[in-house]
Amino acid sequence: MGDERIIPVEEPLQKKTIKGKPPFEPLIGQSPPMKRIYELIDKVADTDSTILIEGESGTGKEVVAKTIHFKSLRGDKPFIPINCGAIPEALLESELFGHEKGAFTGATSFRIGRFELAHGGTLFLDEIGEMPFPLQVKLLRVLQEREFERVGGTRSIHVDVRVIAASNQNMEEAVTEKRFRKDLFYRLNVIPVALPPLRERKEDIPLLIAHFIQKFNEKRQAKLEGLSPDAEKILMNYSWPGNIRELENLMERLITFQQDGLIGASDLPDKLRRPQENPLPLQFEFPDGGVQFSELVLEFENRLIQHAMLKANDVKKTAARLLNLKRTTLVQKLKRRENLTLQ
Ligand SMILES: Nc1ncnc2c1ncn2[C@@H]1O[C@H](COP(=O)(O)OP(=O)(O)OP(=O)(O)O)[C@@H](O)[C@H]1O
Ligand SMILES: [Mg+2]
Repeated sequence: MGDERIIPVEEPLQKKTIKGKPPFEPLIGQSPPMKRIYELIDKVADTDSTILIEGESGTGKEVVAKTIHFKSLRGDKPFIPINCGAIPEALLESELFGHEKGAFTGATSFRIGRFELAHGGTLFLDEIGEMPFPLQVKLLRVLQEREFERVGGTRSIHVDVRVIAASNQNMEEAVTEKRFRKDLFYRLNVIPVALPPLRERKEDIPLLIAHFIQKFNEKRQAKLEGLSPDAEKILMNYSWPGNIRELENLMERLITFQQDGLIGASDLPDKLRRPQENPLPLQFEFPDGGVQFSELVLEFENRLIQHAMLKANDVKKTAARLLNLKRTTLVQKLKRRENLTLQ
């Protein structure tokens, strides 16, 4: 078994912290997609199942992984993260599995890998989609047999590790494009967790703003009260490509420049105030019987108008400019929409 040789080389994240607070950020949000995530976390925490978290950058994959770990029975054991995309290919194998003395040039002493460090706890394989193809085979074997050898070693080492993987790319697509092994994907994807982008749960934005204001007020000993209604509206209309991290960074920056009162619309960066490009992606499969052309065109027109009105904060003149329509034409179209919805 070799457990006695498991010597931590770095201080792993532990359940207890100085102030008795958990060592991870709380998950904020009461939108239906977030409620589903909380339910899922509660259901899976105490199982040892492998989990694959997918979500755009900044959607909270790492916080979710930590939440699952600390809620699990392994919560007082180490949570060991490794970013598969940030470590050069040549080093990743020994980072994961460790190496014996003399295993390669520069290996002057034996080194323990992250799998061994995570013994009893959870290994968080971040950016799993970036894992080089040859290493994917080795990882598959560990997941199947919970056993591996250190680089340059011959002895099999057994570990008891729960694996949580995360990716900001679509892993199914990576499999189709043959960048990721199908068998490994199925091994990892026992429980898929899909984190919604912030633009799909905009009702959480005010809660998140309040949370970050409180957090940074405490940190900076500031007394910022909040955002003016028009500033909040701008944040609600923005599409947040960097998701929660982008919102968090913005709040931190705003508090640096203003420590009390309300943040106004003019205090916000230009990028947020400018209407954003949104190509309104068209994604659908043609059904067997074909599509209803006129209905779909009308639906697209409606979505386009709705989108422009949202961006224009309901100012028809601005929306008309976004659409390159005469204001009167837009008004006519809006009237027709109203009539349709009233019927
Ligand atoms: N639901 C949430 N409530 C509060 N804070 C959150 C939430 N989700 C994420 N955060 C915060 O947003 C930041 C980004 O989260 P995290 O690092 O988990 O994202 P990620 O999905 O791993 O991003 P990346 O793909 O860029 O690594 C962190 O500071 C985290 O605490
Ligand atoms: Mg991350």
